[in-house]
Amino acid sequence: MRPRPQQPARRTTVLRREAVVAAVPVALAALLTAAGPATAAGTAGTAGAGDPYFPLSGNGGYDVRHYGLTLGYDPATRHLDGTAVVTARATQRLTRFDLDLSGLKVTGVTVDRTRASFRRTGQELVVTPRKALHAGQEFRVTVTYAGTPRPVTDPDGSPDGWIPTDDGAFVAGEPQGAMTWFPANSHPTDKASYDFTLTVPQGRTAVANGVLLGQRTSHGRTTFRWRQSEPMAAYLATATVGTFKVEQYTTRDGLKVYNAVDPREAADAAPVLKKLPSVLAWESKLFGPYPFRAAGAIVDRAPQVGYALETQTRPVYDAAPDLGTLVHESAHQWFGDSVSLTKWKDIWLNEGFATYAEWLYTEQHGGKSAQQTFDALYATPADKDLWAFPPADPGSGEHIFETPVYARGAMALHALRTAVGDRAFFRILRCWATGHRDGHGTTAQFVRLSERESGKDLSGLFHTWLHTSGKPASS
Ligand code: ARG
Ligand code: ZN
Repeated sequence: MRPRPQQPARRTTVLRREAVVAAVPVALAALLTAAGPATAAGTAGTAGAGDPYFPLSGNGGYDVRHYGLTLGYDPATRHLDGTAVVTARATQRLTRFDLDLSGLKVTGVTVDRTRASFRRTGQELVVTPRKALHAGQEFRVTVTYAGTPRPVTDPDGSPDGWIPTDDGAFVAGEPQGAMTWFPANSHPTDKASYDFTLTVPQGRTAVANGVLLGQRTSHGRTTFRWRQSEPMAAYLATATVGTFKVEQYTTRDGLKVYNAVDPREAADAAPVLKKLPSVLAWESKLFGPYPFRAAGAIVDRAPQVGYALETQTRPVYDAAPDLGTLVHESAHQWFGDSVSLTKWKDIWLNEGFATYAEWLYTEQHGGKSAQQTFDALYATPADKDLWAFPPADPGSGEHIFETPVYARGAMALHALRTAVGDRAFFRILRCWATGHRDGHGTTAQFVRLSERESGKDLSGLFHTWLHTSGKPASS
């Protein structure tokens, strides 16, 4: 593997800076207050989950249990039609609530089979059920919708969401693109299980997360049914469509592997994909049991995307990945997917860990030691991007996929390893992954765990590596 110590996000092309458009709609303040406060008649759910980096992502007042998504897509016309059945529980009395949905035309909304009224404002689909929901009530929202999905442009200029390709669509939603193809409570704090029923023209393949339950062709169209049973954040959902060569097998550990590869990428992808079972086995030894029952990869040809994403169970690659990228997206299955963020500010818990997994892989497979990778990075002059901000404080959504998050985030972990020793360090990584499995974790919790497992006061170390601007004075 080629070490790429300075590389930021898994980006394979340079993104057009002119494309940078604030993804947050204009009437932000108005929206937030419009759906915010309690009224005399009851209480409305909020228009955001309270994340300062993406204030409108997610919503308040309910918790999704399950998404049932039935989608039809025609790559020739780029038309999508969908029915989303969202099963949720009200966490407060609710007179109305929001879902995130960007673009597309909503043709109907029901709540518990009764017609509900709805309106669209920016990325909010505001639903008013006929009768208020009481706190704790489980309810089911059905949204029918159709249209041409359009990706959103993230603050860093990247396309995000349903991204059309020459033979289908590359579907990846970090941090906010889930709303471009289904109505969602689109913030990682709210994880849910998913069922997907995806219909595409015969000859195309539609690949989602989890296990393939079945596929059936009739009248020139093929329907794929996928089930993601472990909880998943909306941004990790995919329904990638294309002309793919499919490979399916079960590993010795009983993992169901499904790989879908664009034939144009197949020759380059094959030697790397062959290593997936051994990479997952190696990571399981370090991080604890692989958290899901399914695995695999989607290798598309999507040069307009410029990044890969750790879509749950089955990362999506914009081109044949190199081994480092495969190791990185695989490590995210533990760090980011199974253990999720509660705030986008904590993104180093995903990217720093996945990057450090690459260093470890290199170290344990005959390459540079992690110490050597660290030293090479530490030699970076103080005025370079690597030191532009501390990894646990990117400042805004614009910076969450930049070098300090990835490389300095990994350096923070290496500094921890140096301070506590290998035994404690690897115990910390495993406890983190297993203790928060299918759940969430915060930076403060990681610091506490590290101190508990090592028996050391690590406040100075974390303060320096995670929270202090500029290049730390000593390594
Ligand atoms: N999490 C991805 C990775 O593995 C990067 C996603 C970048 N997304 C974006 N919208 N810029 O590094
Ligand atoms: Zn990553």
